[in-house]
Amino acid sequence: MSIAPPVYDIRISYEENYRNGPVFGIAPPPLQSTHQLVSFLGIPCRSRIGIPAGPLLNSDWIGFYAKMGFDILTYKTVRSHSHPSYQNPNCLYVPFNRPFKMEDLASPLIATLDFHPQSMSSVTITNSFGMPSQPPSVWIPDIRESINSLAQNQVLVVSVVGIEQNDCSMPEDFARTAKMAKEAGAMAIEVNFSCPNVKGKEGQLYQSPESSMKVLSMVREAIGETPLIMKVGQISDPDLAEMLMEKAAPYIQGIGAINTVSGTIINSNGQPALPGPGRERSGLCGAGIRNLALQTVGILRKVIDKGNLKVDIIGVGGYNTPDDYQLFINEGADFVMSATGAMWDPYLAYVTKQRDIS
Ligand SMILES: Cc1cc2nc3c(=O)[nH]c(=O)nc-3n(C[C@H](O)[C@H](O)[C@H](O)COP(=O)(O)O)c2cc1C
Repeated sequence: MSIAPPVYDIRISYEENYRNGPVFGIAPPPLQSTHQLVSFLGIPCRSRIGIPAGPLLNSDWIGFYAKMGFDILTYKTVRSHSHPSYQNPNCLYVPFNRPFKMEDLASPLIATLDFHPQSMSSVTITNSFGMPSQPPSVWIPDIRESINSLAQNQVLVVSVVGIEQNDCSMPEDFARTAKMAKEAGAMAIEVNFSCPNVKGKEGQLYQSPESSMKVLSMVREAIGETPLIMKVGQISDPDLAEMLMEKAAPYIQGIGAINTVSGTIINSNGQPALPGPGRERSGLCGAGIRNLALQTVGILRKVIDKGNLKVDIIGVGGYNTPDDYQLFINEGADFVMSATGAMWDPYLAYVTKQRDIS
């Protein structure tokens, strides 16, 4: 028997999901009582479980997942201007029955809509949206709506990105977008320094500690005391982790690791599986990237402990089951978030909490 289809309908476009979603016929579970609040970057929070930038397209999505018991909710990355999504499909299954090793990603991977996963551990997908954004005139009031949809001690993070523009540099664009998000009511700001699906320099900023620092310092100036999270991609080199953290730590309270991992995606005929130019490679997420995410979290934990840095780790990547949550905590994550897992199993936070996590 296959598991239920995802709440985000991968057969229809981003726009349709934005307008009509989330569609889920079953009533949410009762909000569980919290034994003890935790501090999320200084903000009192009901649990250590959240959703990273991605599936929460607007306040309707935020409100739905807040009711499902996810307590740290990240608004999908916004820009200083409107930006369209790549054409549909934006998500495809990658039928692969074990977590990837880096060498698995050296060859093309077959992706399809026509797959029926038997369990959450076999949900690996590729996603390719190109970081669409509504204009600020839409997302600013919608952030206010999002906050109204939260229960007490749930947290709204807003993810932002900046690009080089005619009227401003990339760091300036990051900073002005972060400022707008803060003024809209974001409780914490996340800067997205890793997106395999875009072609500009902003796509892999975390690979350059110096450029990362330039952006972080401008964002910090723009948002004052608001907690700041740097979202990075997969890291296997401890030296890169050390250099990055050395430059970034003075400006951030949290590091989100990891974003999707880049792979070459083909259909069963060996042709690019995603339509349109420049989409031969796209980001992998879900169960397949779990071990790469755990490895990155482990490396970051060591660097943070060694330097006695005041930065919390938000583990992301392949948290598809309650067991995965514990693996991230064991590896040194302070918080754990699920994008793909939460799309296919909106009860994930509820069930994880029932394990009586501390
Ligand atoms: C549908 C979808 C859309 C995403 N959009 C964004 C985004 O806008 N910004 C971002 O930083 N990450 C984005 N991500 C990446 C996730 O935040 C996360 O880092 C990645 O999917 C790994 O987590 P997972 O295995 O739980 O999906 C997206 C992921 C998915 C599945």
